[in-house]
Amino acid sequence: MRKKSKKIEEIIRVNHAGEFGAKRIYQGQLSVLKDHPEIKHMLEQELHHLDYFEKEIVKRKIRPTILSPIWNIAGFALGALTARLGEKAAMACTVAVEEVIGEHYQDQLNNLKDDKDEKELRKKISKFRDEELEHRDKGIEFDAHQAPAYPILTGFIKLASKTAIMLSKKY
Ligand SMILES: [Fe+2]
Ligand SMILES: [Fe+2]
Repeated sequence: MRKKSKKIEEIIRVNHAGEFGAKRIYQGQLSVLKDHPEIKHMLEQELHHLDYFEKEIVKRKIRPTILSPIWNIAGFALGALTARLGEKAAMACTVAVEEVIGEHYQDQLNNLKDDKDEKELRKKISKFRDEELEHRDKGIEFDAHQAPAYPILTGFIKLASKTAIMLSKKY
């Protein structure tokens, strides 16, 4: 039986919430930019990430965030609204969110680097970090930087993502 430390609990809870939010963002984008192959591919990867943390939440008996009804609506709205501004704005949203998640996963890896009981978790987080950074790079490739009001747009989305992370750890 694995020990259930508060640190690990928060890691699983926040990652589960984050992957759920990512799923909702890409679903929101696809509701506007139908059948966009790159966005569809990113959504598929988010579903794998979410599936992993979903199983961990159950296996380790961790309470999921109570904020998921908010992330459900806010994530979808963020995806759909940015996509309505155009493909470049949708990609700017991707750059902002994935940059924050990539850093967030890297912080966790630094934090877990000596935890011998959590090798599998580290392996997954490391793989997901790479994929999130691929998503960010895809956004850059699709001219995210040419989106209208890029610095304001991404600044706002980064701040919102960081706030969501902070809240989903505890609540
Ligand atoms: Fe993800
Ligand atoms: Fe991602």
